Amino acid sequence: MKRAPTARQLERALFDEALAVLTAGFTGLPACEAAPPSDRLRETLLAAAERLRDSAPYHHPFYLGQMQKPPHPVARLAYTLSLELNPNNHGSAGGLASVRMEAEAVAQLAALFGWHTHRGHLCGGGTVANLEALWIARECGYRTGIATSAQAHYCHARAAGLLGLPCHPVTVDARGRLDIDALDRALGTGKIDTVVATLGTPATGAVDPLAEIVALRRHHRFRLHVDASYGGYFGLANNLDADTRRAFEAADAADSIVIDPHKHGLQPYGCGCVLFRDAAPPEAYRHTSPYFRLDLDEGAPAPGAHALECSRPGAAAVALWATQRLLPPVPDGAFAESLTACRDAALALYATLAADTRYIPLPPQLDIVVWAMRADSAREASARARAVLQAAQARDLHLSLTELPRALLEAHAPVRVWDADTLVCLRACLMKPEHGPWMETIFERLGAAFSETGGQAAA
Ligand SMILES: Cc1ncc(COP(=O)(O)O)c(C=O)c1O
Repeated sequence: MKRAPTARQLERALFDEALAVLTAGFTGLPACEAAPPSDRLRETLLAAAERLRDSAPYHHPFYLGQMQKPPHPVARLAYTLSLELNPNNHGSAGGLASVRMEAEAVAQLAALFGWHTHRGHLCGGGTVANLEALWIARECGYRTGIATSAQAHYCHARAAGLLGLPCHPVTVDARGRLDIDALDRALGTGKIDTVVATLGTPATGAVDPLAEIVALRRHHRFRLHVDASYGGYFGLANNLDADTRRAFEAADAADSIVIDPHKHGLQPYGCGCVLFRDAAPPEAYRHTSPYFRLDLDEGAPAPGAHALECSRPGAAAVALWATQRLLPPVPDGAFAESLTACRDAALALYATLAADTRYIPLPPQLDIVVWAMRADSAREASARARAVLQAAQARDLHLSLTELPRALLEAHAPVRVWDADTLVCLRACLMKPEHGPWMETIFERLGAAFSETGGQAAA
């Protein structure tokens, strides 16, 4: 009996069909087919596959370690398809169609934050996107200092260093969110004129109180940048708590926003996005190149004329455009449901951990769950977390560790004796909607890892 084709075989057939449509657009040219794969190419590709086996299973629901999520098949296929042309989105001279596709896809991202006019483009990732946002802030005259939460991504401190500006970390509350009173006091010193709020911090997925930060503008003048690299899409989930929802609803008041399609937007790496509320490109971008006139891009957007990077992969734009055509980033659609599913998985993990006195989980705001192991001392709790990580890995369940300051954890009382200023906690990023059906098995493996390493129930 003939076997039904696998999903991959069907994908390959679909790819060939799409490739035929693409190449039909260039039939007027003399044929210039690539040489067929040689034995050496085959040997090389198989060697690469062999090398790659030495990786964690990032694509599998048992991988909860870092922020890693496989791209959607449509992103993979569209990306590869566009590599036939390998467009360069520095301007429409390098990527006529893909530059327009980028503009459409980016407008959909801006609409996520309630912006109907904007300026923005794709870029290499969150680090570059945040650097560009802070560079433009400086070029718009905000040159005094930058405040971020102490739990913000380290790229902001680096960007501040590159821009020659001081960066002031602001303390966080017991949920890892920027402490609004501390920010108010810091702004009162006159040393800060740019505030970075994070929607989804890297360690715990904390969402800074953006509505309250916006309200501080009544008393202080500052530019507001929102780093939603990780959490930006969660405004679409329908199961956020009230505080978190309020923060997302305040994002339209920002001057600039970063969101990373290569985190929760189902894209391959190399796809960040920076957005500015002011649609007019500032002077800082002005440049002239004798070999390339960006201002000649009439009628079409010219990203290279208002982007920090020059060459950018048109393939990333095509992949994002195709993904958002299939799964529009709008409320109540299949994409929104997939974010709700990630958060549901995180809430299920939190509830399971919270029901057991051996663990002290922090209530998740998004889909990242962090928990301390209860122990007598901070050092012992940290050692136990490290042991659980190993024991889980031996069961093919991949978690990660995060080191949190005593100030954040003390209110949760995970230990009696603080013999260290930080405590190593376990961390699970539940970024794949596919985790849901596997949660029972994940709990079993986690439970076995906990039992093997011992654990201390509350007295
Ligand atoms: C909140 C936040 N900002 C910025 C970044 C940096 O993004 P990238 O790794 O894409 O450069 C990250 C990465 O995890 C992040 O979580």
